Amino acid sequence: MYVTGGGCILNSMKIHARTERLLLRNWTPDDVAPYAELVADPDVMRQIGNGKPRSRTYAEEFVAEQIRHQETRGWMRFVVEAAATGAFAGFCGFDDKTGRLDFGWRYEKAFWGKGYGFEAAAAALYVAQNAFGLTRITCQSVLNNPGSIRIMQKLGMSEIGIEMSSGETVVVYGFAEEWPEGL
Ligand SMILES: CC(C)(COP(=O)(O)OP(=O)(O)OC[C@H]1O[C@@H](n2cnc3c(N)ncnc32)[C@H](O)[C@@H]1OP(=O)(O)O)[C@@H](O)C(=O)NCCC(=O)NCCS
Repeated sequence: MYVTGGGCILNSMKIHARTERLLLRNWTPDDVAPYAELVADPDVMRQIGNGKPRSRTYAEEFVAEQIRHQETRGWMRFVVEAAATGAFAGFCGFDDKTGRLDFGWRYEKAFWGKGYGFEAAAAALYVAQNAFGLTRITCQSVLNNPGSIRIMQKLGMSEIGIEMSSGETVVVYGFAEEWPEGL
């Protein structure tokens, strides 16, 4: 994996990490269209928040928010792109809206089940810890999202609590040494 600290600029695009098959990069306004398509897919959104697909307006606001974060603090939910084709795959990265540092991921169906989720998560975690010095990172998932929970476990995280989120029971994962007493 190739990881940049200050950020590598390729065709004016800031790249945070390059893995065997993926790039983790900054957002551009051109990402609104593929991201709107992603969040309009009921299968993608079924195990997220209220489980409902989201609008184009939501996608526009989300991308604008990520661009604000990348311009100010540098980290956010990184775009994940297929290195070979440049296709938009989804996102993987960090958000602190809830007061905790949440690490999450979301991909188009064509990318599921091929190891991309873990590949991107391992790279994003490396960038977070080594380029941005982020700590006390947590992930959360509804109980019936085995792929997402498996990624957390493969990253070396363990269960640190169970709580309610958007009316759903969720499991929260973190690094046990950073959460010795759980949540
Ligand atoms: C959940 C998601 C990120 C998984 O991504 P992915 O690229 O398919 O995951 P990977 O291929 O890297 O697989 C990671 C591990 O999970 C396992 N896994 C993946 N999908 C699984 C499923 N549906 N059921 C059981 N295990 C699954 C894989 O076998 C692998 O484990 P292994 O290495 O021990 O075999 C992807 O399905 C997705 O974007 N879903 C929609 C959005 C979402 O739910 N986001 C997470 C919200 S918490």
